[in-house]
Amino acid sequence: MTTVFVTGGAGFIGSALVRLLIANSDWRIINIDKLTYAGNLESLAAVADHPRHVFSRSDICDRAALDRLFAEHRPDGVIHLAAESHVDRSIHGPGEFIATNISGTFTLLEAARGYWLGLDDSAKAAFRFQHVSTDEVYGSLGATGLFTETTPYSPNSPYSASKAASDHLVRAWMHTYGLPVLVTNCSNNYGPCQFPEKLIPLMINNALAAKPLPIYGRGDNVRDWLYVDDHAEALRLVFERGVPGETYNIGGGAERTNLQVVDSLCRLLDLQRPRSDGRSYSELKRFVADRPGHDQRYAIDAGKIARELGWVPRESFESGLARTVAWYLANGDWIAHVESGEYQHWLEKNYAERGVA
Ligand code: NAD
Ligand code: DAU
Repeated sequence: MTTVFVTGGAGFIGSALVRLLIANSDWRIINIDKLTYAGNLESLAAVADHPRHVFSRSDICDRAALDRLFAEHRPDGVIHLAAESHVDRSIHGPGEFIATNISGTFTLLEAARGYWLGLDDSAKAAFRFQHVSTDEVYGSLGATGLFTETTPYSPNSPYSASKAASDHLVRAWMHTYGLPVLVTNCSNNYGPCQFPEKLIPLMINNALAAKPLPIYGRGDNVRDWLYVDDHAEALRLVFERGVPGETYNIGGGAERTNLQVVDSLCRLLDLQRPRSDGRSYSELKRFVADRPGHDQRYAIDAGKIARELGWVPRESFESGLARTVAWYLANGDWIAHVESGEYQHWLEKNYAERGVA
């Protein structure tokens, strides 16, 4: 049976990947997550008791813990998603981004390399270290053009600079030591279980609470949106069929200004959860001070992964956004527990008696 480490598997994308792999593969998943504010075991409730899912509350900066996990579980590969992921937080406090995204990736690479060196030749050749990164490493686009795998790196925020540094480390570990690595750079994800600090869940959450919808600057910045399950499918495909040493860009082909996104959300909420006074949620929109150094536009050319691995997104932006709004409306507890802080006690409540924590 294939055994794979997924780091950051209690986060937004990691939990979608774990749910997908438990449902649609026979892989054994060792889910390694520190459970920062962004880690939420309620997102993994559907797989918590599954015999092929093992959760370890561990920090990727902790080399001894990683060595123990590699020795105990002897994985066939690693899909590395653990990171500090929010641009605004990186502006206000970059330290954790340097620690986890750069030093943590370095520590994980070294633990993986130590384990990999002890494998026999065929296991060595089959091993994969897959690094999950972002399109933000390429910087900001003007009105035209798309990011390709050969676009030069030009990160602008502490977050994107830390991700760029980690991408470079991962490539260097293949070039220098021969570790078989893969890198993916993806555009903005949205969908169920996203922490309500990011644009789409923040707007849904605020709208439902009749709070202002804060749009940075003029709302004309453009992002390329991808439904999270489409990203998870792409990650699985790259792990199984990607060529070591290669980079694959992943994107939704769904460019929208932030204002368009917020207007679409308001329309969906007006339909799915009309306000009692009959007014539109769009009345809550407010233009606020811009994000410092705000990148104007991101857009991905996903031609390589389509041509070479046959991946295309299944969800359109319209269908994905409607599903997302419906999910948040149907899962009020998930968001209420995030707001109250209750989600951070899920581990003690549900795992302590099984001795997992
Ligand atoms: P997230 O913030 O929702 O989740 C990150 C997870 O990593 C959390 O569960 C957290 O507890 C864990 N974590 C943080 N520091 C850790 C540490 N030191 N040790 C172990 N675990 C730790 O992030 P996300 O949005 O799911 O993003 C996942 C990955 O995908 C990140 O690497 C991010 O850069 C990348 N990415 C995200 C997007 C996006 O739109 N969200 C797009 C492209 C790439
Ligand atoms: O492009 C991939 C990246 O997408 C990932 O690497 C990051 O981890 C992920 O957080 C995301 O980064 P962004 O900065 O693009 O996402 P965010 O949801 O924070 O913001 C999306 C856009 O919306 C951006 O232009 C800023 C704007 N915004 C955001 C918030 C939170 C607002 O106008 N108002 C807000 O309140």
